[in-house]
Amino acid sequence: MKLFLDTAHLPDIEEMVAWGVVDGVTTNPTLLSREEGDPRELLVRICETVNGPVSAEVVATDAEGMISEGRELASLHPHIVVKIPMTIEGLKATRVLSREGIRVNMTLIFTATQAWLAAKAGARYLSPFLGRLDDISTPSMEMLAGLLDILDHGDYEAEVLVASVRHPVHVLEAGRLGAHVVTVPPKVLRQLVRHPLTDIGVEKFLQDWKKVEARMQQGA
Ligand code: E4P
Repeated sequence: MKLFLDTAHLPDIEEMVAWGVVDGVTTNPTLLSREEGDPRELLVRICETVNGPVSAEVVATDAEGMISEGRELASLHPHIVVKIPMTIEGLKATRVLSREGIRVNMTLIFTATQAWLAAKAGARYLSPFLGRLDDISTPSMEMLAGLLDILDHGDYEAEVLVASVRHPVHVLEAGRLGAHVVTVPPKVLRQLVRHPLTDIGVEKFLQDWKKVEARMQQGA
């Protein structure tokens, strides 16, 4: 399973790319609204930092507007994947852009059948939102299992990019079910790395090594 960072915060992206585990980045208008400066310039800097796909979302709501915005975003950098919402207009725009060779990440997917339609329209990535479903008491993992199942029965290019991740168990379950990509906020990536027993283990090894050093000094 590939790991994308779900953020537009460049310092976090720079830090975590150096960890050797980041395969791409996803942004959205909300994430970009939290950062200073020109969002287009920031997107280019993110593309230059990460060696993989960087999703940038359109804000137009009609197909024509999405298509022209999508072309403009794709021209910023070869890493850009155009993010388009799962609407009728979004499907029309996805069909046109994907036929031009522009990769589309269809976003705001909440059902297996929405994902199936997005794949049929030519989307390269399908983004089911887990956390927002759980927030309204709808079990997200049942939806994800059905989504992966329905796609398995067809011949689609699309990769399932699990989004709206709130905690490490979402990542674990997405991986177990066979999602192709998971995009996680920096906070969740830090939670995935840390374990109290690892910290205790490091501390114990260091303490014991001090005993060895003390013994060596006494013997010297
Ligand atoms: C990523 O592609 C999505 O825009 C993002 O994961 C949404 O997450 P949220 O539901 O926490 O806003």
